[in-house]
Amino acid sequence: MNFPDLKEARKRTSNKVNILYDRYNIPERIMNIGYGKSYSILTYGCQMNVHDSENISGIMEELGYSRGENYETSDIIILNTCAIRENAHNKVIGILGRIKHLKEKNKQLITILCGCMAQEETIVNLIYKKYPWIDVVIGTHNIYELPLVLEKVIRDKKQEISVYSAEGDVIENLPVKRDSKYKAWVNIQYGCDKFCSYCIVPYTRGKQRSRLPKDIIKEVEVLKNDGYKEVTLLGQNVTAYGKDLNSNYTMANLLEDVSKTGIERIRFVTSHPWDFSDDMIEIIAKYDNIMPYIHLPIQSGSDNILKKMNRRYTIDEYKSLFYKLKKKIPGVSITTDIIVGFPNETADDFKKTLEIYNELKYDLAYTFIYSPRNGTPAALIKDEISLEEKEARLHTLNQIVNRYAREANQKYLYKTVPVLIEGPSEKNNKVMGYTDTMKLVNVEADLSYVGKIVPVLITEVKTWSMEGVIKVD
Ligand code: 5AD
Ligand code: SF4
Repeated sequence: MNFPDLKEARKRTSNKVNILYDRYNIPERIMNIGYGKSYSILTYGCQMNVHDSENISGIMEELGYSRGENYETSDIIILNTCAIRENAHNKVIGILGRIKHLKEKNKQLITILCGCMAQEETIVNLIYKKYPWIDVVIGTHNIYELPLVLEKVIRDKKQEISVYSAEGDVIENLPVKRDSKYKAWVNIQYGCDKFCSYCIVPYTRGKQRSRLPKDIIKEVEVLKNDGYKEVTLLGQNVTAYGKDLNSNYTMANLLEDVSKTGIERIRFVTSHPWDFSDDMIEIIAKYDNIMPYIHLPIQSGSDNILKKMNRRYTIDEYKSLFYKLKKKIPGVSITTDIIVGFPNETADDFKKTLEIYNELKYDLAYTFIYSPRNGTPAALIKDEISLEEKEARLHTLNQIVNRYAREANQKYLYKTVPVLIEGPSEKNNKVMGYTDTMKLVNVEADLSYVGKIVPVLITEVKTWSMEGVIKVD
């Protein structure tokens, strides 16, 4: 048994990060423990978690398990959880009750909780005391140990908690079972050292650790040879890529090298404005296979709040970066994240958020009400603003977000744009895909186009999506 420890999770040392090429392995004796049995993974949260679930699927299948049709009939249920806001928590807590019933009906069922909630001291203590029907809690740093932990639980039939509040290593040899044959997630960096005052990620994901360029490039080359059309480079803070490698190799260098593999589309998330270099902008502008789409969280329009958030930039600095991107990368689409109701955000602070939004007119924004996270500095601030007021602010903001989203889409009407067709659309007889600028398009075409990048004439635009037809010359 090993429990998470908030104090340890907060620590940052100058210890070298270990890059481990053989840490994951499955002993002979358990090679087939999953034979004839099924697993399901319920994934919550960000793309990082989505990709972690692909690694977990890879592990499960190497153990002989096959993917179940739904979680309610599977032999193993894995909850890959998110801790970023209270509502992500609540969703998981809700499903725990449902799982209890399933466990009562089927005593052989094995239940596993992993992801960011598994790294939270308070949550794990709660599971230990109140949720004995969760068999395994395993943390984000040691998912490679899943085979051994699973073996132990099957043998001992006792709850096993295996979580380390470490800064973390880089594990290079996890297997992966990808959800798509055309689009792939590629980790370039783990963890975060920014410590924005509201954010739990630096505690749940550990110190910023970059993968070595050669390992990333090799992964992209293999994907390209396997027929993948698009890679998304993943990290909490990709603009700071390489800073921990003790070399001069930067995100700009990495983007250029990934571009030279010749893969057709390259995306990257998430960019922190603080580390966004001119070199990076130049490389994005120079190479056609680096998509003109940038997710650039602003979080607030008020310098006062940005300071309390520990975001390390002012609105003027953010604006100058934003305009530089617009100028140097033709047609670039920029999206953002905004938190409303940070503790004691005044009406004037919020007005500044609306003003900056009206000025920058983002293509889209993901907007959230501030949610206090245990252990973060912001959670200690006594907040005088009511939830009602915060909800009203969110509603006001969302109205302008929607208005500009529609306006941004309007510019595409009757234009022809490249779309990577991904699969059937929710609409009858159509397929769906994304433009280079990350706009969702439903296209009148059949499934033979899936996996291809095709020119699409946009015939109708809405707030969240567009309709189109394939353009034939
Ligand atoms: N409350 C609300 N939103 C948050 N985010 C991160 N932490 C919190 C929090 N405590 C938002 C930020 C971040 C996005 C992924 O989630 O906007 O960019
Ligand atoms: Fe959280 Fe800030 Fe790190 Fe993003 S940069 S993961 S918001 S601490």
